[in-house]
Amino acid sequence: MLRNDAPLVDRLRYIYIRRKGPVYAAISDVIDDQYPKEPRPLIIKQIKLADKAHRFLIHLPPGKGFDEFKKKERLFADATGGSLLIEKRGTTIIMEVLTEELKKSYPYSLYDHTKYNSMHLPFPIGMSAKGLLVRDLAEYPHFFTGGETNFGKSNALHVIANSILLSRPDTYLVIVDPKSTEFAYLEDYALVVDEMQHAKILFQKLNHEMDKRKKILKKANCVKVQKYLTQGGDMPFIIVIIDEMAELQDKETIDHLWRLLRMGRFTGIHIIAATQRPSSKVFDNFGDVKAMFLGRLAFICADSINSHMILDNDRAAHLEAIQGRAIYKCGLEMIEVQTLFLDPEDAAMLLKDSKDRRLKKVDFFINQPSERLPPRQNLALPPGGMPGSRHRPN
Ligand SMILES: Nc1ncnc2c1ncn2[C@@H]1O[C@H](COP(=O)(O)OP(=O)(O)OP(=O)(O)O)[C@@H](O)[C@H]1O
Ligand SMILES: [Mg+2]
Repeated sequence: MLRNDAPLVDRLRYIYIRRKGPVYAAISDVIDDQYPKEPRPLIIKQIKLADKAHRFLIHLPPGKGFDEFKKKERLFADATGGSLLIEKRGTTIIMEVLTEELKKSYPYSLYDHTKYNSMHLPFPIGMSAKGLLVRDLAEYPHFFTGGETNFGKSNALHVIANSILLSRPDTYLVIVDPKSTEFAYLEDYALVVDEMQHAKILFQKLNHEMDKRKKILKKANCVKVQKYLTQGGDMPFIIVIIDEMAELQDKETIDHLWRLLRMGRFTGIHIIAATQRPSSKVFDNFGDVKAMFLGRLAFICADSINSHMILDNDRAAHLEAIQGRAIYKCGLEMIEVQTLFLDPEDAAMLLKDSKDRRLKKVDFFINQPSERLPPRQNLALPPGGMPGSRHRPN
């Protein structure tokens, strides 16, 4: 509070700051308190991102470091009552303050896939204080979700699978689901692999496919599949969803998967993996491939060590224990979200309503020597050409 006998200039500044709104005022108060004797306001710009989301550009006075400023994050968060993201761009500090309180549940029906035609593989990450966050899976190339059991990893995978099925009928979807039968409802639309020896064959074949695609792209002078597609080329995206990645214990299987992760970049093969804790005890050399998962979604973690394994920071250890609440991170972007909830029964209905968009199964998978493929899948899959052949199952 300003004292009654404060000089006029201080009174005017006080009024000026209050008129800019409570969030601006709260930040300004903390700055005044932490950086006294600065003649000029340090906030140089306030940008409104949404009703309850603001971005501030802040210039620190010479000699005051970013690290010192970042340590005051808790003070700013307490003063504004919001969640914060502080980062440095050149000599400017960017501070995003989100004061919107997220609800405990948002239905999947909030997502309208028809609005994102400009993206290759759109899917909703979740509701954030800035509104619904929708991203393009094709940009990542790979996506990882982790966190304690029963907080929403599999639900996030259902959301991704369904969003892709609804908006990209020419995508091959493969689901590796070693633990349960959760994804059985997608068997008409995707290749669902639930036995470990089949997962090994699958990853082997995907490696062949990746090598083949690389040659095709190189010959066409395309650095990535998106460019090839804009030139009229035919190369369907292949999305491989792996629930409970920790169940993949066989060394050869893991080696095939790691190679896909390391080298599949830009060939249109995207891996989306979920597991509670991606520790190096569970996976040999996970540290080597972790960076390939540019998109990460961490539900609540038991402690900061587990949060670090997924996000490289401790944010997920401090999440509220709400199912579906997560921290999304991609490069410099990091934000709290409430993922959309999709009941598998509703999902089955959604897909039924869009029969015309029905996906074909992964015919490249059966067109290579079938080795020990399960008879069920051999039977279920239609005969067809190699990738690119437009064959629809009945
Ligand atoms: N976004 C959400 N909003 C509301 N509830 C959710 C959300 N996501 C998940 N849940 C609830 O949490 C339960 C557990 O979710 P889910 O099975 O996805 O967790 P999980 O992390 O995969 O667990 P596990 O590690 O045991 O496989 C769901 O049955 C659902 O009731
Ligand atoms: Mg699960």
